[in-house]
Amino acid sequence: MLQVNVAAPLDLTSRLLPELRERGGAVINVASVSAFQPTPYLATYGAGKAFLLNWSLALHEELRAHGIPVQALCPGPTRTEIFRRAGLSLGEKEEAGLATVEAVVRASLRGLAHGRPLVVPGWRNKVLATCSGTLPRAWAAWLSGRVLARYRLKQLTPRAEGVQ
Ligand SMILES: NC(=O)c1ccc[n+]([C@@H]2O[C@H](COP(=O)([O-])OP(=O)(O)OC[C@H]3O[C@@H](n4cnc5c(N)ncnc54)[C@H](OP(=O)(O)O)[C@@H]3O)[C@@H](O)[C@H]2O)c1
Repeated sequence: MLQVNVAAPLDLTSRLLPELRERGGAVINVASVSAFQPTPYLATYGAGKAFLLNWSLALHEELRAHGIPVQALCPGPTRTEIFRRAGLSLGEKEEAGLATVEAVVRASLRGLAHGRPLVVPGWRNKVLATCSGTLPRAWAAWLSGRVLARYRLKQLTPRAEGVQ
């Protein structure tokens, strides 16, 4: 997971930098709302996304002088293959609350046009991200653990049983 979510963006961005300097362009790193607080039961995922968020924001400042915008895109739950692949079966209500990929991409491109280094699509996710940032980190971890515990192994489909 860390290879895909952390090492690959790092490697790709550094390899593309010379070209970006020469021809222009931007870097959009897909983090997550999971980046804003520790995520018990998704500990590695959330910690990797926190790296991506902070690294992208720092890089945005470093590359400002070169005119290369870097965006940390932090979507909330979105309708993709991710839940099925992770073996999670969402309830009808949760399924209905998922954002569409199109809405996330629109928010990202709008943010890019306005030069925003941090884009959190959707008002619910913005509230979550802001609140998480104001709580003491240990409280945020406890609270997020209470929420995420609902999605632990007992709610996984047989395909994912045995996944640690
Ligand atoms: N969906 C959400 O609710 C949500 C919310 C926040 C952030 N995100 C982030 O959005 C990004 C895209 O996820 P998604 O929701 O679009 O999930 P997805 O539909 O499951 O797509 C995951 C993508 O990652 C690729 N991938 C997975 N393991 C890989 C590996 N070991 N090597 C190379 N490629 C690999 C897959 O390639 P193949 O198709 O070739 O397997 C696929 O293109 C992820 O970074 C995810 O963390 C998603």
